[in-house]
Amino acid sequence: MENFINNLPKAELHLHIEGSFEPELMFKIAQRNAIKIPFNSVAEIKEAYKFNCLQDFLDIYYQGAQVLQTEEDFFDLTFSYLQKCNAQNVRHTEIMFDPQTHTERGIPFKTVINGIVKAQEKAERDFGITSLLIMSYLRHLSEADAFKTLEESLPFKDKITCVGLDSSEKGNPPSKFKNVFKKSMEIGYIPVAHAGEEGDADYVWEALDILKIKRIDHGNNSLQDKELITEIVKRDLALTVCPLSNTALQVVSDLKDHPLKKMMQLGLKVTINSDDPAFFGGQVNTNYIEIQKALNLSKKNLYELAKNSFQYSFLDTDTKQKYLNELETYYANNK
Ligand code: ADE
Ligand code: ZN
Repeated sequence: MENFINNLPKAELHLHIEGSFEPELMFKIAQRNAIKIPFNSVAEIKEAYKFNCLQDFLDIYYQGAQVLQTEEDFFDLTFSYLQKCNAQNVRHTEIMFDPQTHTERGIPFKTVINGIVKAQEKAERDFGITSLLIMSYLRHLSEADAFKTLEESLPFKDKITCVGLDSSEKGNPPSKFKNVFKKSMEIGYIPVAHAGEEGDADYVWEALDILKIKRIDHGNNSLQDKELITEIVKRDLALTVCPLSNTALQVVSDLKDHPLKKMMQLGLKVTINSDDPAFFGGQVNTNYIEIQKALNLSKKNLYELAKNSFQYSFLDTDTKQKYLNELETYYANNK
């Protein structure tokens, strides 16, 4: 089964580039920029990666991102992730980045995006991996701050496909960002948002009805509300589920209790993703492998999950079809 998963063509639709920052690379970049970090070794960093909730994690995640300063740093970070994609047969990825984490500490927007885009271009040349960008607004900051970021993004509009919403969910409902999402859509960005990770089903409703999202990041707590489930199925919106993130942040107490299979049985379109792989114990393939074991998923289930990952990507129709054909051939030869 592991072999089947490792070679399965797939897309990753929920990945924070800052969350792919491995401790080894963090040390290297910290040294290069002569920045002191509050850890003496990789082992010490890994020891700190024990979380009781989303906020626990976010505090460490934002701290780690502070060492990123130059375009080269953002290139190295992104290319390192894309090399891992290549090793896992991830054929396409939709990368979230949090500009405010960097612009707030004086790093220009262009430094961040130029480094990321150069890595995307190299990965497409070297490995044939396609990727697109989701610019995520930090929900613990104000809507006015998000508007500022939207403004800064305009010269790079053609490099960005979506806007997203991440960071501390509780107390920061989607409705707080109603106006900036409306404006972002008018500009041409496709809206997605984290919803129902720690927040309740009413946050998912808001993300659907007020932000008009086209995909739901996490969405676990949608299961609290039958009417909501029916609505998500009716609107044909996919959920980007992140199993190891859910256990690391105690959204789910044990992988065996993970609602993924139930979601599939309810007709929800589910995909498997790593979220912040450097922090949660595994890349996307480890997420597939661990959830397969925990829920005894069949090859057909895994094929469906990979199929959703292409189907619910924001790729153009032809490229999507090319990947779907590749997946069909793989499944026909390996089932
Ligand atoms: N930022 C990075 N990972 C996140 C997550 N899982 N939820 C909310 N914000 C995040
Ligand atoms: Zn996330």
